[in-house]
Amino acid sequence: MKKTIKPSRKIGGTISLPGDKSIAHRAALLSILSSGPIVAHNYPAGDDCLTSIAVAREFGVAIEHAGTSVTFTPPEKRTLKGNAAIYCGNSGTSARLLAGIIAGSGLSATITGDDSLSRRPMKRVAEPLIRMGAEITDTDGHLPLRIHGHRLLPFEYRMPVASAQVKSALLLAGVASGCSVRILEDSVTRDHTEIMLGAAGEGISVRDIKPVPTPDPHDPRKTRMVMPETFKREITLASRARIVGGEIDIPGDISTAAFFFAAAAISGGTVTVTNCGLNPTRLGILEHLKAINCKVTIENKTIVSGEARGSVTVTGGPLKARKISGDRTVDLIDEIPVVAVMAALAEGTTLIRDASELRAKESDRIAAIAENLNRMGVKCGLLEDGLAIEGAKELAGADLAAFGDHRIAMAFAVAALAAVGPSTLDTPEIVSVSCPNFFDLLGQVSA
Ligand code: S3P
Repeated sequence: MKKTIKPSRKIGGTISLPGDKSIAHRAALLSILSSGPIVAHNYPAGDDCLTSIAVAREFGVAIEHAGTSVTFTPPEKRTLKGNAAIYCGNSGTSARLLAGIIAGSGLSATITGDDSLSRRPMKRVAEPLIRMGAEITDTDGHLPLRIHGHRLLPFEYRMPVASAQVKSALLLAGVASGCSVRILEDSVTRDHTEIMLGAAGEGISVRDIKPVPTPDPHDPRKTRMVMPETFKREITLASRARIVGGEIDIPGDISTAAFFFAAAAISGGTVTVTNCGLNPTRLGILEHLKAINCKVTIENKTIVSGEARGSVTVTGGPLKARKISGDRTVDLIDEIPVVAVMAALAEGTTLIRDASELRAKESDRIAAIAENLNRMGVKCGLLEDGLAIEGAKELAGADLAAFGDHRIAMAFAVAALAAVGPSTLDTPEIVSVSCPNFFDLLGQVSA
């Protein structure tokens, strides 16, 4: 049922959020390959993360809930029903990581998903797994994906697309099969799999390539900083790598926090998110908020289960435009919808480039953003690989569409708070994919 969202000029407050979706998926899915139990604290109740629990159960993992803690106890022997079909709902992370687990475990299964997931590209994960030795048949590059696992071969791969899901699938295939994997990343993507393999297992190492001072060929008295390699990060999984289990404490999801920080940004208010995940590969949104003229402060920073977290406070100011392209786009991959909403209220024109990946998310996010911004009276042009958004003085209340995408729904619910006049959102319930209590939390920060 449609939801009416009234403007609110008084944004402020302190909230804590459900656990990070990416980390939660990995806790559930790594348990399939673990020799001992994994206990995940602050496990979120979003549909996607519940899908990964259901996937683990298919492999015989016993699941026990106690409040927001979930204990995953793997069976003695990893099995699946013959030719099992495993349904991954809307969850790209579950589907792609699962492909690696099945391929490396020598099992056979078919991965399926809902309409949106069935439109998302799967060749990017099938191709390298086939090169490792798995038999995989896709359906025109999409789900259903039929997988016959085998003992896989040691593998080296330079990532053609910046994707943490594909990287993780290959690492998990390596763990499951006991073969070494070396991955080279041209753009560093989120590294929760690497961190969890280190915290709940062994056999993974990560090397960051840093620029080194090198004599300038034109003037030997000078030095230049030069990258010794053409890639930025090397991840090596040893053939003896294994997961033994342990306790994982999941920090609040910074990608969900982004919506509440944006609410502060566009209203000049102040929002604090306690226990917010601060993994260095996820900080693009905080850098962006600073660059567009918000004040960002971090307190009580600690590292638990290898993952940084702390209390983050954002205060909005008069916003300014900022170009987003290259690695900046990768660092903001899940936050672009709400970055676009902030751009709509910034001074100047914001260009978002190198963002074609957004066409293959839960919706075509480029088209969805442009459509909703246009409905709110903002001039927004489609570029070949992104968007050009002309900042406006105000947004008009409008009938907004979620396009079956939780992040589009949440981004435009925030935009509606800053509009002149009420707005409606067609399918507000879609927020349950990542944050079922989103509207309660939004109510807590908007008077
Ligand atoms: C995710 C990786 C990203 C991100 C998604 C979660 C993950 O996807 O957009 O929301 O948990 O690994 P890609 O790997 O497709 O970039």
